[in-house]
Amino acid sequence: MGVVIIGTGKSLPELKVDNTHLSKMVETDNQWIIDRTGIESRHIATKETGLDLAVNSAKEAMGDLDRNSIGLVIVATVSPDMLVPSMGALVKRAMNLENAIAYDLNAACSGFIYGIWNAEALMKTHGIKRALVIGVERLSRITNWEDRGTCIIFGDGAGSAVLELKDDKTGIISSFIKNYDDISNSLTADMQYLKTPFADDEPKEQFLHMNGPQVFRFAVGAIGEAMDIVLQKAGITANDVKYYVPHQANMRIIQSAAQRMKQPIEKFQVNIQTTGNVSAASIPMALADLMKSGKVNSGDIIMMVGFGGGLSAGAILFEAV
Ligand code: UT7
Repeated sequence: MGVVIIGTGKSLPELKVDNTHLSKMVETDNQWIIDRTGIESRHIATKETGLDLAVNSAKEAMGDLDRNSIGLVIVATVSPDMLVPSMGALVKRAMNLENAIAYDLNAACSGFIYGIWNAEALMKTHGIKRALVIGVERLSRITNWEDRGTCIIFGDGAGSAVLELKDDKTGIISSFIKNYDDISNSLTADMQYLKTPFADDEPKEQFLHMNGPQVFRFAVGAIGEAMDIVLQKAGITANDVKYYVPHQANMRIIQSAAQRMKQPIEKFQVNIQTTGNVSAASIPMALADLMKSGKVNSGDIIMMVGFGGGLSAGAILFEAV
């Protein structure tokens, strides 16, 4: 019995913001951003809600599948439209997913990997036939647009995958997730609570703060560890993997992962140029691009690998159907 990915989809907001646009807002320039990150432009939500993006990507992933067959919806996000109801509950309602249990999960940029890990376990334990795992972010709403160290990196979007429990398929071959304590608070976003009459703490701004070089060093180590461990668990080598779908945080991190695994960069699905870093949505959007590219054949082994705030990291190896 295995859990297979039977559909993928993605959705981007209409507005595309290029590096030149940002160089009018903060002291930066197009070439610096391209050289240090690989990013040329990103999409920013103006009229789209996170729910719009999540639902559009989920509809693409579902195609004409029976909506009543979805038993589980997990939405990975750090930027939900609201705290209650959860994005999962909102997606369930908007898509009439009558039979779904729905909730959100926050594992920052590793969120989609954690979502798949959760879904696989629950599907196998509870006999859930189909699940929808979504990564969605409107990071533009928690970005400090005056901080050139972060605002040039992030973007908005959503990606989805439909998972199915099958008796006769392998699907997910191995998985690994890990939390590392962020002892120096290298990647944080506060909650913007109101002041209460009972506590002295002052309201904080809900901005993403990042010590870029520190997170970069963590990312390079964590991505390598996650990749090594899923391969070991599966008893295969990096050469056996047909395509890699990494978190899209920085082109240099993706290049270092390719070098470490001694794999050509062409095996890595990269869309950071046009999306930037969309946290939990980065991997499912890149996965949707790969699956739609026509390159993937049944039986191909694919690795998704991510890392991010928390600190967190993880990887999933699966066989395409
Ligand atoms: O998805 C979650 C995980 N996130 C990540 O993985 C992000 C990891 N980190 C990064 O991708 C990189 O650290 C950044 C892209 C954020 C920054 O690149 P960097 O090569 O680490 O630059 P830096 O922060 O070490 O700064 C180098 C120089 C500094 O100037 P000095 O001190 O050398 O004069 C910065 O002030 O570049 C300067 N700088 C900029 N210059 C132009 C920093 N940001 C910018 C900018 N434009 N936007």
